[in-house]
Amino acid sequence: MSFAAIMNGLQAFLLLQVLTCLGQIGHGSEIIHGQKAPENSFLYMVSLQNNRGHVCGGFLIREDFVMTAAHCYRFSPLHVVLGTHNLKDLHNEKIEVEKRFITPFFNYTDLRDDIMLLKLANKTQLNSRVQTIQLPPGEINLEDNEICQVAGWG
Ligand SMILES: *[C@@H]1O[C@H](CO)[C@@H](O)[C@H](O)[C@H]1NC(C)=O
Ligand SMILES: *[C@@H]1O[C@H](CO)[C@@H](O)[C@H](O)[C@H]1NC(C)=O
Repeated sequence: MSFAAIMNGLQAFLLLQVLTCLGQIGHGSEIIHGQKAPENSFLYMVSLQNNRGHVCGGFLIREDFVMTAAHCYRFSPLHVVLGTHNLKDLHNEKIEVEKRFITPFFNYTDLRDDIMLLKLANKTQLNSRVQTIQLPPGEINLEDNEICQVAGWG
């Protein structure tokens, strides 16, 4: 996992922006000039996977709910992998996706409201490797030139 080094408090919102990029082919699907994230960081990041492997990033907002991008629906994510930066590690915790919820306002053309919630079949155990991320309190407005942070396996 890598991250573009810069920080600000609006992580959840910003992650969404990344997730939007991660599912796309070609430009926008990669993190450019990122850095390898320290092991003990981004504990809320999960990998959405289907039978062929990683398809999108997401983040844990409750023990049994993951937020991700609606455009990831078409990759049919079947399970999530939690608590790891190394997707090749066979000991990674894996939980099945029970249900996918897409906002009815999602528009695939302009990627408006590109948000999807995944209900997991089981609750994960929060611990030193797996934590939830707090969602922003409501409406937030980003100013021009705000410094943001993105994360993913791009
Ligand atoms: C989706 O977005 C495109 C581009 O902005 C727009 O032309 C189209 O009307 C939108 N579709 C719906 C159902 O809102
Ligand atoms: C996960 O959930 C399924 C179905 O809800 C249940 O059968 C299974 O025992 C659960 N697994 C664990 C490890 O809790």
